[in-house]
Amino acid sequence: MLKIVIIFFGFRKKLYVQWIKLDSCKRELVEIFDAKQFIKKSLEEIKETVGDRNVISACSGGVDSTVGTFLVHKAVGDRLVAVFINDGLRREGEPEFVVRILKDLGIKTRSIDAKNEFFKIFAGRVDAEEKRRAFRHEFYSVLGKVAKEEKISVIVQGTIKADIIETVKGIKSQHNVLGQIGIDSLDYGYKILEPLRELFKPEVRMVGRELGLPKEISERMPFPGPALSLRVLGVVTPERVAIVRKATQIVEEETLQLGTFQNFAVLHNDKATGIKNGERVYGDIITIRIVDSTDAVTAKSREVAYKILRKITKRITEDIPSVVRCLYEITDKPPSTIEFE
Ligand code: XMP
Repeated sequence: MLKIVIIFFGFRKKLYVQWIKLDSCKRELVEIFDAKQFIKKSLEEIKETVGDRNVISACSGGVDSTVGTFLVHKAVGDRLVAVFINDGLRREGEPEFVVRILKDLGIKTRSIDAKNEFFKIFAGRVDAEEKRRAFRHEFYSVLGKVAKEEKISVIVQGTIKADIIETVKGIKSQHNVLGQIGIDSLDYGYKILEPLRELFKPEVRMVGRELGLPKEISERMPFPGPALSLRVLGVVTPERVAIVRKATQIVEEETLQLGTFQNFAVLHNDKATGIKNGERVYGDIITIRIVDSTDAVTAKSREVAYKILRKITKRITEDIPSVVRCLYEITDKPPSTIEFE
């Protein structure tokens, strides 16, 4: 009995110390990062860089690009046009959602239909890095065309510190990192402004809240710039994107209440045997990925209730005719990364 009490006491003590440590870390983040001060300094910097020119901002509707766009809008007002590129790789209803949010925020917005161009560049490409580089090139080329039409020489983008670190380290070529790896954006015809380049995700959210952005933006689940192309392993085609889009919608709907950092589906570049309507099908495989993280630099796979996973699997295999198998990914980052590609 005594032994149990001592162990229990020791355990509590350890927990307490960890709690204090965690608490002081949190306090450090809040104390070191002053969102109000950041916004003040940032507005000055943007005004100085932009001067009396017009600018466009690449906005996918994610936390980073929307906070960046809104910040610049606060600095230069109607001299900013937000550009949403519809690359055919967005989630269900996302193009309409992003354009509506930007317009509701009072920001002039252009939606560019570039679906064909993006699917063309993916043709025949299987390698993850090759696909990423192709996406990046097309992304900047499309922006270059818009910049020319709008007679713009400065483009805003929501690059954050984690994007730069991963690209510079050679882990992944993030779609929105150029100058830091020696590519001159002037080759695409414009200068790039990255007001959030020194921030990590929790700080970007703090800036979003301080700017008064709606929760559906400041608390939005992270979604990568190259969108569903990172979740279609192997060749990216409209048909394969449609499969992962539907599976993603199901995963997101069934996991909304978990409050996790990122929840999504991945389509494999492989097939497996299954049975549908009593017949053999050599069909698609989907992996479900649900992770906890604060800054995306490290992440932990969530121990999700089996009941939820079974419901997701049932819906995916019933609603998507080609899918015969669902897997759940339990690897943390590191050694894996959050996205598969
Ligand atoms: P990984 O897969 O590297 O992802 O663990 C870390 C975080 O970054 C997102 N991600 C990207 N975001 N452009 C982006 O804007 C990209 O090219 C890109 N690649 C990964 C990913 O969803 C996760 O939140």
